Amino acid sequence: MAQSVSIGVGTWAWGNQFLWGYRPDLHDAALEATFQRAVALGLRFFDTADSYGTGRFTGRSELLLGRFLQALPPQQRDQLCVATKLAPFPWRLGRRGYHRAFEASRQRLGGRLDRVQLHWSTARYAPWQEGPLLEGLADLVAAGEAESLGVSNMGPRRLRQVQQRLAQRGVHLASLQVQVSLLAPEAVTGGELGACCRELGVDLIAYSPLALGLLVDRARTGGGTDVPPGPRGLLFRRLRPKIEPLLALMREIAAGHGAQVSEVALNWCRAHGAMPIPGLRSPEQADSAAAALAWQMNEQERLALDRRALDLPVRMPANPFLSD
Ligand SMILES: NC(=O)c1ccc[n+]([C@@H]2O[C@H](COP(=O)([O-])OP(=O)(O)OC[C@H]3O[C@@H](n4cnc5c(N)ncnc54)[C@H](OP(=O)(O)O)[C@@H]3O)[C@@H](O)[C@H]2O)c1
Repeated sequence: MAQSVSIGVGTWAWGNQFLWGYRPDLHDAALEATFQRAVALGLRFFDTADSYGTGRFTGRSELLLGRFLQALPPQQRDQLCVATKLAPFPWRLGRRGYHRAFEASRQRLGGRLDRVQLHWSTARYAPWQEGPLLEGLADLVAAGEAESLGVSNMGPRRLRQVQQRLAQRGVHLASLQVQVSLLAPEAVTGGELGACCRELGVDLIAYSPLALGLLVDRARTGGGTDVPPGPRGLLFRRLRPKIEPLLALMREIAAGHGAQVSEVALNWCRAHGAMPIPGLRSPEQADSAAAALAWQMNEQERLALDRRALDLPVRMPANPFLSD
């Protein structure tokens, strides 16, 4: 199982001033170098969203990705899967509610969009909104405008309903993206979601696999200090002191494989059958993501990490829109 699970690239930070301190003059060149390194190292799946980028930078993640993609030779571009997530904002209604947003995303991404994903389920607050939006996405796939369709922030019950609805249209549900990390382990340690995905032939994608950078050795490849600036620092101050037992085990396992702590975090997701999509902002971070592809953790290591993670008194905040 683990051999077939790949590693992708997340781009939430690209254009996000509020949480990630984005500045074009400081970051754009490094992001382009990160993209090029990731592609050169064989990372093939890129995840973005039409809501990524804050304030005047809304849409910036797609724009940057589109700019970098257009600089690739066509045969290299053909090997990638570029996936965006369209937000089910309250004003996006009905079967054509996403069509304008889809076109805008495709433009920003350089004219081609491989996978279109529903960013979150509206089942908990506007259950009538989601079905027509999904029908509209299925229309786009059936018309060949996008190659495949995915969803995000759904549990097994909703996933089954959506998969059946799409299957009746003859459209395959390609992937489900949920938060999975050693600080949000329940999605995979319980086994139900993974089993449901396998049964339905839906790829499971792990977002925030590094818990926003808590599950890394920051002194080596991250920002250099233990607590990043801005609102992310609040989360670090609250969780970091409580996760030392987990980090100690991760360091031990990393040392046994000549790897970095971040690689352990990614390979734990892969060992559970979920493709991690770490957020990358430097070529060095792309190097360590790709390095994780060279090894797998064994069953004892995975189980020991499961236990240590489940014993922790803290978790990452859950997405408020996650449906059951
Ligand atoms: N579907 C959804 O609702 C949803 C929600 C959240 C995220 N996502 C997707 O999932 C992707 C990944 O999640 P995420 O960006 O939230 O967080 P993440 O992958 O858990 O953490 C990313 C951060 O970890 C640090 N990092 C990465 N590689 C590292 C390395 N080798 N060594 C040290 N530090 C490293 C970087 O922070 P520094 O640069 O500060 O060092 C990086 O920005 C997102 O980009 C997005 O595409 C989807």
